[in-house]
Amino acid sequence: MTIFEEMTALAVRHGAINLGQGFPDEDGPAEMAEAARSAILAGANQYAPGQGIPRLREAVAAHQARFYGIALDPWREVIVTTGATEGIAAAFLALAGPGDEVLTFEPFYDSYGAMIALAGAEHVTVPLGAPSFQPDLAELEAAFGPRTRVVVVNNPHNPTGAVFGREMLSRIVELAAEHDAVIVTDEVYEHLVFGPRHVPVASLPGAAERTLTISSAGKTFSFTGWKVGWVTGPEELVARVRTIKQFLTYSSGTPFQEAVALGLGYPDGFFEGIAAALRAKRDILAEGLEAAGLDVFRPEGTYFITADTAGLGFDSAVDLARRLPELVGVAAIPVSVFCHPEGAERTRSLLRFAFCKKEPLLDEAATRLSRLAELV
Ligand SMILES: Cc1ncc(COP(=O)(O)O)c(C=O)c1O
Repeated sequence: MTIFEEMTALAVRHGAINLGQGFPDEDGPAEMAEAARSAILAGANQYAPGQGIPRLREAVAAHQARFYGIALDPWREVIVTTGATEGIAAAFLALAGPGDEVLTFEPFYDSYGAMIALAGAEHVTVPLGAPSFQPDLAELEAAFGPRTRVVVVNNPHNPTGAVFGREMLSRIVELAAEHDAVIVTDEVYEHLVFGPRHVPVASLPGAAERTLTISSAGKTFSFTGWKVGWVTGPEELVARVRTIKQFLTYSSGTPFQEAVALGLGYPDGFFEGIAAALRAKRDILAEGLEAAGLDVFRPEGTYFITADTAGLGFDSAVDLARRLPELVGVAAIPVSVFCHPEGAERTRSLLRFAFCKKEPLLDEAATRLSRLAELV
């Protein structure tokens, strides 16, 4: 059983509000759901082209041009995947193998570690420490070496909610160029940012020719179960992803692609609205956690808050996570599960809470959490 399953089981047993799971409790736009239904009824039910339906590839290219000024050829520089997860898998399998090093920040989204291992490559990590969760430049530089094939950026970052600024991203691009490494950047939370507009790695000088950008409809549109993602970048790198995708899934859910193409064309105001609504939710949960006596790191992006439990007297956040559903009726995930053993030690007091839930539920979670200080 994974810790995610364990926490879900505990939440069910104690009737707890499950803030461990990273998916919304509300669906995205009804018009998109209707578009998927119409596509099914209109017969969009057979394999889509391996690279994705033309309408979605064009919509992805238009989205990158509209928001970031990135010009892409939808025929050669865009591929649709089965969620960002398949993009990650295909990119790592295509680019790294035995003898190669893949560099990620730590904590890291769990599929990176698994896919690097499946590719047979070595996983090198650079720690992100509280409270800023920004890498130390000297540690970042030292992590690069002659065997660095791929550097993985995840911005905004799951699980910490940190956002890397333009300067940090530019330094990563320079280091990748010096070591002739490919950058794989996972930007699934690109529209879930609470400060300045998202800066895609591929928009920075010198980056485009060595960067594969991964994103997905799941987070932006609150349709995580549709599993529609995409990878964009230079033709030669996208072709390598396509070669692997051919034998992972060959092609991805046809009617959902139609619906996501519609959503990507929504006006700017739609995307701004997503961030504004989430920001309000972040603040509700942050206040509840602060009242509980936790040190809260207010995220700049994503729908996750990280909080430090050290002050509460538990041996580790894993212990607290196991007790929390019974103690106050809320479930969360320890950040150490996103780490290798050394990183797990460094993050042993951190818990991750998801705030992609309806406001009344978050209000209730905040009230329950605020009792924690009296109970321990
Ligand atoms: C950083 C990151 N990348 C990728 C994914 C998976 O995206 P998808 O559901 O589109 O496969 C997630 C989902 O939690 C995530 O947090």
